[in-house]
Amino acid sequence: SLMQRVFSGIQPTGVPQLGNYLGAIRNWVKLQNDHDCVFCLVDMHALTIFRDPQQLRTDSLAQAACLIASGIDPSRHVLYNQSAVSAHARLGWIFNCVVRLGWLNRMTQFKEKAGKDREQHSAGLFVYPALMAADIHAFHATRVPVGDDQKQHLEIANDIGAKFNHDYGVDFFPVIEPLIPPAAARVMSLRDGTKKMSKSDPSAQSRIELTDTADEIALKIRKAKSDADALPSEAEGLETRPEARNLVTIYAAMAERPVDDVLSEFGGQGFGPFKSALAELLVETLAPVARETRRLLEDRPHLEAILRSGAERAGAIADPIVSEAERLVGY
Ligand code: ADP
Ligand code: NA
Repeated sequence: SLMQRVFSGIQPTGVPQLGNYLGAIRNWVKLQNDHDCVFCLVDMHALTIFRDPQQLRTDSLAQAACLIASGIDPSRHVLYNQSAVSAHARLGWIFNCVVRLGWLNRMTQFKEKAGKDREQHSAGLFVYPALMAADIHAFHATRVPVGDDQKQHLEIANDIGAKFNHDYGVDFFPVIEPLIPPAAARVMSLRDGTKKMSKSDPSAQSRIELTDTADEIALKIRKAKSDADALPSEAEGLETRPEARNLVTIYAAMAERPVDDVLSEFGGQGFGPFKSALAELLVETLAPVARETRRLLEDRPHLEAILRSGAERAGAIADPIVSEAERLVGY
């Protein structure tokens, strides 16, 4: 196919939340129209921090179900578990031998995740960027949708590809370019407008999950933190009101309308009517996704068959590329 190949890695940790949907999943669904997409549930990356085995399996299936229910099409594109395709581990090892310790030492995400007790973390967490480079290069993918926080990972993936090409005197791994999503909304916690909505937040009330029922969505929005003032008529009026700003941001992102446009409709009103409208909007889009997710999860063998077929197709693309890399290094 003449379309650019996109690689997206998705951590199978917990049920996706509204921030994942608006910040990532919805964008991936759109990418399918004009790209050749590989959607990889990166369970090997998830293992860098100890996970309960049963939970890891359950999370991978829940993640797959949510993606399909959201509109990822596993028959036209590729959706599979990373661990099911050996090309990742094979090229990951070669890249461990290409990447320099100095490059890994400069990765800010490891420093943030490891914090003070660096010595207590797995070596896997440290070399994660080499495996991520392998994920992408194993497919000769040239486009990767990334947020700001992932740019450094793409740079090191390109450095690794370039060093491989240089060391072995080949022009084998292409340059990867980031696909920066069109100003993705940053969704904040429903309980604290200064914290990012996250599936790792201990409070389930802080987020809308993609498996929430219509009633759960409505209740979470009704209870979401706001303030006593009316909504302003312009975005400027939200600057010092993080909770209000978050709810308006969610509405605007969900409706794909500018914030000022939303405020021209609701400005001057209290949160009562606005929250009802927001709940209705969320239910309209997410309740069908949740219903479909639950339906998919009820037929686990079917879901597993989809992932198996995805893994076969992923292997058919990546195995020849990684075999050639292995030949180049002299295996
Ligand atoms: P989580 O914090 O829920 O575990 P991840 O860190 O796994 O989310 O991120 C998965 C994807 O979802 C990334 O592309 C990230 O940019 C996006 N994302 C996660 N949380 C949010 C959020 N609150 N707002 C916007 N995008 C988000
Ligand atoms: Na996370």
